[in-house]
Amino acid sequence: MATKIKTVFFCQSCGYESSKWMGQCPGCREWNSFVEETVKPAPKTTRGTTTSASGASGGSAPKTLSEIVMNDEERYDTHIGELNRVLGDGLVKGSLILVGGDPGIGKSTILLQVAGNISGDGKEVLYISGEESLRQIKLRANRIGDFSEHLKFMCETNLSDIEEAITRAKPEVVIIDSIQTMFNESVSSAPGSVSQVRESTSVLLRIAKSMNISIFIVGHVTKEGQVAGPRVLEHMVDTVLYFEGDRHASYRILRAVKNRFGSTNEIGVFEMQEKGLAEVANPSEFMLDGRPENASGSIVTCSVEGTRPILIEVQALVCRSNFGFPRRQANGTDYNRVNLLMAVLEKRIGLNMGEFDAYVNLAGGMRIAEPSLDLGICLALISSFKNIPIGSDVIAFGEVGLSGEVRSVNMGEARVSEAKKLGFKTCIVPKALEDKLKKSCKGIEIIGVSSVADAMRLI
Ligand code: TYD
Ligand code: MG
Repeated sequence: MATKIKTVFFCQSCGYESSKWMGQCPGCREWNSFVEETVKPAPKTTRGTTTSASGASGGSAPKTLSEIVMNDEERYDTHIGELNRVLGDGLVKGSLILVGGDPGIGKSTILLQVAGNISGDGKEVLYISGEESLRQIKLRANRIGDFSEHLKFMCETNLSDIEEAITRAKPEVVIIDSIQTMFNESVSSAPGSVSQVRESTSVLLRIAKSMNISIFIVGHVTKEGQVAGPRVLEHMVDTVLYFEGDRHASYRILRAVKNRFGSTNEIGVFEMQEKGLAEVANPSEFMLDGRPENASGSIVTCSVEGTRPILIEVQALVCRSNFGFPRRQANGTDYNRVNLLMAVLEKRIGLNMGEFDAYVNLAGGMRIAEPSLDLGICLALISSFKNIPIGSDVIAFGEVGLSGEVRSVNMGEARVSEAKKLGFKTCIVPKALEDKLKKSCKGIEIIGVSSVADAMRLI
């Protein structure tokens, strides 16, 4: 029987499938996002091979934990410490990793460096580009350094040719740059469309699991900051990494938003240099570089990203509003949270914020939404409002509640020792942590505060 071609409507932003066109997507409430695509039903020969993560062919019998064999060599070392950390101690064999980020942020660069490092260990690596010509890749590679014979390049966008090449070359690691340029002949819609991206990913998933090859997939990001194509793509892969950071600043942050093999809070910090991306081993130092001395509205606070504390400078500028409606702006942190903290300052401390414009900025362009920054943001606002500089050897952290109370946060000791390492003398911490930290952290002054008003009296 000839396979009947049917058309389906897909939501471009979440992948919702519908048999008829709709103005608003019931899945993600996006307007005008449905596009028509033709899909050919898949032949019903193999049971669940397209999405099976087990990679095993044939039926699978239940096993006890002791029957499951683990081999030691399950992870590759990428020789990039920050990337290993984000991946959860190295690249897992047979995993599928999606790397997302704005154009020009460095996705191709870091993957070329990873390919170079892993192939340098004698492992076969295949770099498949659908975006650049071999000459362009060579130009980039020349900037980065020397590469071994084990690294091969290919310009191809047809997935069946790619599958054939992979089967022939049997590499251990494959890089696909990018998923939006790949196409699968069995799907009739254009490359980059929802069904094409989804089908291509499922083919790559099958290759990764059945041949035990680690595959990195580059994905472009839409204006809203999601990987272009459906969200389902994120559900299919094992790990989703996002590259973020200001294109104009030199540093880049790699964040794991999903990881089946490690923690998702970890971040890696890189700096874009002449010869590719270099790791930043001590991000706190990097973030505090160029901090103003004795300026009002500036204080250092500490955020914990994953397992690592990072010191960061919070800046606030409060100035009289020229219009009836004061302006508020938050860069790098949650706008609504800043509004809430300003309401707390107004009501609980009596600062007349209503007549003032306020701008809050995390220096260095980091994006952090951790509540432990609250106390730092409040103190920066107060310092700017009163025009009193806070000592440059003071850090403050703690969550602020709606009654103006300062609440405890996790990993207090790690935060204090990071501050001590960078030469800070005084830590303003939540009262609940004071005794514990005084006992465990020597050589740095610990001051516990139970409310924002308490903290204000210190500056
Ligand atoms: P690229 O990896 O091509 O970005 P993506 O694949 O995410 O689109 O990065 C390109 C940018 O990085 C480009 O603006 C040039 C810059 N760059 C350097 O500054 N130094 C280097 O050594 C390399 C290779 C690129
Ligand atoms: Mg690229």
